[in-house]
Amino acid sequence: MELRYKPEELTGLPRSVEYGEDRVIIIDQTLLPGEFKTVELRTVDEVAEAIMTMKVRGAPAIGAAAAFGLALYADTTKAKTKDEFMEGFYWAYERLRSTRPTAVNLFWALNRIKGLVEENFESPLGEIKRLIVSEAQKIADEDVEANLRMGHYGAEVLPEGKILTHCNAGSLATVQLGTVGAVLRVMHRDGTLKLLWVDETRPVLQGARLSAWEYHYDGIPLKLITDNMAGFVMQQGEVDAIIVGADRVVANGDFANKIGTYTLAVLAREHGIPFFTVAPISTIDMNLKSGKEIPIEERNPEEVLTCGGCRIAPDVDVYNPAFDVTPHKYLTGIITDQGVVWPPFERNLKRLFKRE
Ligand code: MRU
Repeated sequence: MELRYKPEELTGLPRSVEYGEDRVIIIDQTLLPGEFKTVELRTVDEVAEAIMTMKVRGAPAIGAAAAFGLALYADTTKAKTKDEFMEGFYWAYERLRSTRPTAVNLFWALNRIKGLVEENFESPLGEIKRLIVSEAQKIADEDVEANLRMGHYGAEVLPEGKILTHCNAGSLATVQLGTVGAVLRVMHRDGTLKLLWVDETRPVLQGARLSAWEYHYDGIPLKLITDNMAGFVMQQGEVDAIIVGADRVVANGDFANKIGTYTLAVLAREHGIPFFTVAPISTIDMNLKSGKEIPIEERNPEEVLTCGGCRIAPDVDVYNPAFDVTPHKYLTGIITDQGVVWPPFERNLKRLFKRE
């Protein structure tokens, strides 16, 4: 695959998650679009809290932030012996693991570092610490590289025209560029993206607050719609393809993504519109056979009872699942950093992992 563009040719945005010796630096996504502010996290607890409260969110960004959380532990711990260090390390690992259940990138990143630590257990403590920090940095750098690849693969298979997306799988949701974001940015540079329809994505409004903000920032022509307008726009023949991110793709191709994705997939089928998800290898969980096994996070009812800080409903019972599962039968293809996976997904995902 020839990479025609460099990250800096595709976005003016900085990385969303970075590491600086004794701090994890993130863009506080809860403040956007009103304020662009970076926050420095100095403890593992602060990193965990930032993930839970969605200051940093989006599957790959959560994975990178958690990896940097372990780096932060390695750089700041006062542990003198290896036993003390390992006790603190496992505590940090569990603390970060318990933040959000659906996006598999979190577990993937934490397990990658834990595996490395356990493999090198006999090494001197200083060496183990150095390995943790460099592996976390590698995870972040590889994410940008994976996005760049997905951007180029995706641009090859998406039709020229008007694209609809849901939630935010852009630069903010990853270390940089985005998964969906990279595809849109390459298409924009190629001149094949005529218009981007952005679903607002209730209840947390990642589409309106984050996608509209970051794509507008990079000059991508877009129109914002409320979630309930998507069907009408499709019916009018105004959507040539839909691309969404994923929090977890499983062995048969079913995938979890932001609540509302399933609705779009069914509508896309009705209207004969190609429907793709974009997901790096770190989002694919071959340990689960079908989407029914994916744990779905339920969040605070306040997210539904309020909008933009305003109360919009009486004090009633609420159901607030943060994600839904789209069965693979609705998917046209999965755009990964190792190429596009086409149906039959179960067989072709297995092949992809054998080849890896
Ligand atoms: O609850 P969020 O905002 O973390 O959910 C984000 C999504 O569902 C994204 O589409 C997904 O994480 C892919 S990000 C590249």
